[in-house]
Amino acid sequence: MGGKTGLVSSDGLTEKEFRILVESKKKSLDEIAVALGLSEAEASQLLESANRKLVTAEARGSSIMELLPKPTVFRLQKNIGAPQQGSMKVGSQILEILSKGVYSAPWNSLKELVSNAYDASATRVDIEYFPNEQKLVVKDDGLGMDYNDFDQNFTFITRSLKRTEAEHSKLHDRPLIGKIGIGVVAASELCETMRIISAKMGADTYFEALIDFARIRGIESKDKEFYEVSQFTLTNHEKKDIGEHYTRIELLNLKRTFVNILNNLVPPGETRFEPGTESFDEIVRKLCSGNYGSIRREAGPLWEFLINFANVIPIEYLENGPISIPKKTEIPEEYAVGFENALKTIDSLKERMRKYDFKVFFNYMELRKPVIFPNESYLIKYGKDFCVFPIADRIPVTDPITKKVTEIALMGYFYYQRTRIVPEELRGMVVRIRNVSIGGPDKDLWGYPYPGDKLYFPQVYGEVYVDEGLEEAMNIDRSTFKTSHHEYATIREALHAFLKEKLFHTARDMYFDRRGEKAGKMEKIRQGTRALTVAQEFGKDYTTEEVRRYTSEPVLINPANRKIFVNILSDAYQGFKKNDRFLLQDVSLALEMAFTKEKEPAKIRQEFWRILRELTQYRRS
Ligand SMILES: Nc1ncnc2c1ncn2[C@@H]1O[C@H](COP(=O)(O)OP(=O)(O)O)[C@@H](O)[C@H]1O
Ligand SMILES: [Mg+2]
Repeated sequence: MGGKTGLVSSDGLTEKEFRILVESKKKSLDEIAVALGLSEAEASQLLESANRKLVTAEARGSSIMELLPKPTVFRLQKNIGAPQQGSMKVGSQILEILSKGVYSAPWNSLKELVSNAYDASATRVDIEYFPNEQKLVVKDDGLGMDYNDFDQNFTFITRSLKRTEAEHSKLHDRPLIGKIGIGVVAASELCETMRIISAKMGADTYFEALIDFARIRGIESKDKEFYEVSQFTLTNHEKKDIGEHYTRIELLNLKRTFVNILNNLVPPGETRFEPGTESFDEIVRKLCSGNYGSIRREAGPLWEFLINFANVIPIEYLENGPISIPKKTEIPEEYAVGFENALKTIDSLKERMRKYDFKVFFNYMELRKPVIFPNESYLIKYGKDFCVFPIADRIPVTDPITKKVTEIALMGYFYYQRTRIVPEELRGMVVRIRNVSIGGPDKDLWGYPYPGDKLYFPQVYGEVYVDEGLEEAMNIDRSTFKTSHHEYATIREALHAFLKEKLFHTARDMYFDRRGEKAGKMEKIRQGTRALTVAQEFGKDYTTEEVRRYTSEPVLINPANRKIFVNILSDAYQGFKKNDRFLLQDVSLALEMAFTKEKEPAKIRQEFWRILRELTQYRRS
C-alpha cells in the first residue's frame, strides 16, 4: 500500500488522540501507553486533549464525526487496467448508528446522491429506473472524481474535505451541501451493491468501482478504531478526452421495499395513478390540485416518493408555483403590504433556484418543486379564501460554550387557506438549509405549542430557507433536527411567535369574518322568505314585525291594521339556540296563519303544513 501523504486536519482529533479515546474505553492508561509505544505522561496528555475536544464539541451539539481524524495516506494507485481491492472504512463510534440505518424515507436517501451532484457543479442529473434489472442509475454532468478523490473522500465514511476547500461550488456559486461525508451510507440503504464510474474534469484517467455493502450491517464488536465495512474493487481506465467529466452511480440489487415503491405497487384491488405522456407539470396539476386526498393512498407509493423527492432537492419551482394568484385578484387593503412582500420573497426564491441552474430528471421527466397554491377552484378571494405571509429575519444566537454571538438568517413564506389542504402530502412546514429540505413538510410545525390553533394546521403550508446557521443542529440523516440544539431552539421560538401573531391571528379573523358574513346572509334570506310568504297568503299590504314583549302571545295577527307581530321574546321561545328559535317562530307563524285563513280542522291542518313548508323552504335550497 503506502503512497503519498494527504491532508491532516488542524482542528478535530488527530489519529493518535482518536485511538487513545477508543482504547480508553476498555484499557487502563499504562496498557494504552504500552500498546501505542508512548510514555504514560504522553498518553495521559493525549487523552486529556482528546477529551477536551470531545466535551467542547458535545456541549456545542456538534457531531462527533466532525472530530474524526482526516485521512493521511492515499492507498490507491494509477495502475491503468489493473483491478485494485480495498474497503470502505468507518469510525467505530458511529458504526452502530449507521448499521441500524439512518434515513427516515427513501427520498431522503436519494436526496444525498443528488446533493453530491449539485455540490460537484452538475447542471443536470438523470435518474433512470430499469425495472427488469432492479437497477437505478443516477448520472450527473458534474466535475467528477478521479481515483485519488475516491480514495480520499469516498472510501472513508464520515470524512469529507468538501468544505475545507470552499464554501461554494466551483460553478454557479451554490452553497455547498455536503459536510459530514455519509452520502454513501444513504445509497447503502437503497441497494446492496453500488457501481460508480467517474471521470474528472482535466484528468487523464477515469475509474470504475464496485462497492459491496453487505458488511455495513451486522458488525458488532467495538474494539477497533476503524471498521472495514464494504469491499470495493476499483479499476482505472485511460481517458482520451481530458475535458470529459461526469459521475454515474448505479444502485444495483435494489432493496425490496424500494423496488416496490419504484414499481408503484399497491395493495390488491386499489387503483393507482398511471400517467400517459404528461409532463411533470401536468402530473403535479393532477395529483396536487385537490383531486387526491392522499397521493400515497390514491395514486400509489411511486408518486408519493416522487412528489416528496422533488420537494426536498434543490431544483426550480414550477412555472406557476409555489403561489399562483390570477392577475385581477383584488387584494383587500389590510393585506396589501404583506401581499407585496410575499410576492417579492417568492420571486427572489424562484430567481435563486433558477440561478443555480440545476435540473433533475426521473425517467426523462424533469422534476420541479411540486407546489402550486391555491390548488382548488373555489379558493378565489385573497384574504377570505387564502392568504400568503412572508417571513424574513436575522436572529442573533449565543453559543452556550464559547459565548460567541452569530446570526441566523432566514426567509420564506407561509400559505394559509380556509379549508384543509389536499393532498395531505402538501401540508406543513418545510425548512431548507442551503436550499435542501431537512425532512419532508412537518405537519406538526415543529411542535407548535398553542393548542387553540392546532385546528388550523391542515390548512397551512410554508417554506423557510435558512441561509445562515442551523447546520450544526441537523442530525446526520439530514432529515431531522437535534431539538435541544440552541440554534434550533432559537429559530423555533421565532417561528412559533410568527405563526401565532401573524398567521394564526389572521386565520382566526378570516374564520370569524366568514362566519359573520354567512350568518348575515342567512338572516336576510330568512326575513325575505317570511315577508314573501306573508304577502302570498294575506296580500302585499301585510307586514310582519318583530316585537319584544314578555307577556303577549308568541304570534299575533291583526287584520285591522294588516300586521303580523312575532314576539321574539316570548317565553315559548326562550331556552333555545338561535336557529331553533327561528324554527319555532316559523312553526307558530304557520299555525296562526292557518287558523286565520281556515275554520275547518282538516283544512287548517292542510294549510298549516303547506305554509310551514314555504316558510322553511330556504333551509333546503
Ligand atoms: N456525484 C459526485 N460527483 C463528484 N464527486 C462526488 C460525487 N459524489 C460524491 N463525490 C465525492 O465523494 C465525497 C463523499 O460524498 P459524501 O459521502 O456525500 O460526503 P459529503 O457530500 O458530505 O462531502 C464528496 O465529498 C465528493 O468529493
Ligand atoms: Mg454528500
